[in-house]
Amino acid sequence: MRIGIFDSGMGGLSVLDEAYHLLPDQEYIFYADKKHVPYGVKTDEEIRGFVDEIAAFLISKKVDAIVIACNTATSVAVAGLRQKYDIPIIGMEPAVKPAVESAEGSDRVIVMATPVTIREEKLSRLLSRVDVKHRVDLLDMPKLVEFAESEVFDSEEVRDYLKEKFAPFDTTKYSALVLGCTHFNYFKPLYRELLGDRIRLMDGNNGTIRHLGDVLGLDINKDINNRIYFNSPQDIVVYRKTTYYESGDEITDNERLSKYLRMLDRLEFVRDF
Ligand code: DGL
Repeated sequence: MRIGIFDSGMGGLSVLDEAYHLLPDQEYIFYADKKHVPYGVKTDEEIRGFVDEIAAFLISKKVDAIVIACNTATSVAVAGLRQKYDIPIIGMEPAVKPAVESAEGSDRVIVMATPVTIREEKLSRLLSRVDVKHRVDLLDMPKLVEFAESEVFDSEEVRDYLKEKFAPFDTTKYSALVLGCTHFNYFKPLYRELLGDRIRLMDGNNGTIRHLGDVLGLDINKDINNRIYFNSPQDIVVYRKTTYYESGDEITDNERLSKYLRMLDRLEFVRDF
């Protein structure tokens, strides 16, 4: 099957990477809206406009399903897309439920997301449904999106930003950190370093791709602990049957594909943190 996966930018690659592990035999169209990233600080109206354009593009490429690999775009636009198209539209949502379910005693949970995801009603509804013991604290991290886009994963600047954002929290009290934005996956080693070994880092990628597989009636690959590395930029196109687009522009040159290769390598490296 042909699956369209989109995000404002490189965060969506973390969802695509999970799909490579769980549904390795499918064909993918990956769309990063490079022209409009970041979404997380824009208005709902702007985000709906971007998403409409991307969905129409993916539909024109005859995809069998669309994955919104972006919590922000899902919060604002998933309902509208489902009304408009009759193929499966799979959205993302911060992994709050498993995080609060695994919390014990007086454990607390940090949910990090973009400012838009935090202000949207979708998250408040999710919290009132699942956070019955009021364990969750919300934290916006808009700058991590910029750092990820520029491949700055582990610099003093990122470390200082994270330290400043985590400073108000007594980190010994927290059992889980929910990565409620797909761009946040790249920084897992730093969260681990700053928050310690006890904290569980939880994202929604695995659940999203499993759900996609179920909806499309596809077998989920069981052997997901292998690592996927490629040697040359063209390998990520050929062996993964993936076409990459940046705001409608197909990426075929080695220079730009190399960035995708480096980002995918990083995601493989951070998988176990
Ligand atoms: N990757 C996105 C998310 O999951 C949005 C990042 C942005 O463009 O602000 O929320």
